Amino acid sequence: MSEARRRVLVTGGGRGVGAAIVRALAASGCDVDFTYRSSADEAGHLAAEVRAAWPSATVTARPIDLSDRPALELFAGEVEEIGFSGFVHNAGQSYDALAATLSQDRAETAMQVNFWAGARLAKAVLRPMIRARDGRIVFIGSVAALRGNSGNAAYAAVEGSVALV
Ligand SMILES: NC(=O)c1ccc[n+]([C@@H]2O[C@H](COP(=O)([O-])OP(=O)(O)OC[C@H]3O[C@@H](n4cnc5c(N)ncnc54)[C@H](OP(=O)(O)O)[C@@H]3O)[C@@H](O)[C@H]2O)c1
Repeated sequence: MSEARRRVLVTGGGRGVGAAIVRALAASGCDVDFTYRSSADEAGHLAAEVRAAWPSATVTARPIDLSDRPALELFAGEVEEIGFSGFVHNAGQSYDALAATLSQDRAETAMQVNFWAGARLAKAVLRPMIRARDGRIVFIGSVAALRGNSGNAAYAAVEGSVALV
């Protein structure tokens, strides 16, 4: 009997590192759902590319702004219903500024997207994984968690939280 395909959720999969993760997962035999916010065109092209390259893979692009907490809550409910066996929290924002020019709103948005959204979605994928006694959760972090630079305080703090997940 063939093994069931793994269905993996990737945040921020429309471009950059996230798009590379989506391709790698599809190439390794997974079905992939990925989120995007502003990269709608890139997300559409990526989904078409993956379907053409790996016809057996099911790929679904899902729009969401992970800084929007009510939208995240709704999305987390959908995620829990679907029941993923893998989750990669890749979406992230950098934010560098010296204290004198730091915007608390921007720093808090980075914390919401990089850490809290990942934590909320990890909670949503965890229950089905526990039931299935199988699952993988990966958070993409940054070297800034280990060594920040001047002007890096907010981002280093955000990434320090991500690293300790
Ligand atoms: N590249 C590097 O050198 C580097 C170094 C250290 C750590 N990282 C980490 O690696 C991950 C990916 O890096 P990258 O270079 O590919 O980053 P990137 O090119 O800046 O892409 C950021 C990704 O996060 C998504 N995103 C940002 N804000 C969002 C929001 N509010 N809601 C939903 N999605 C949001 C973007 O989606 P849209 O484009 O659709 O808006 C995009 O897919 C990030 O977590 C980053 O912190 C990267």
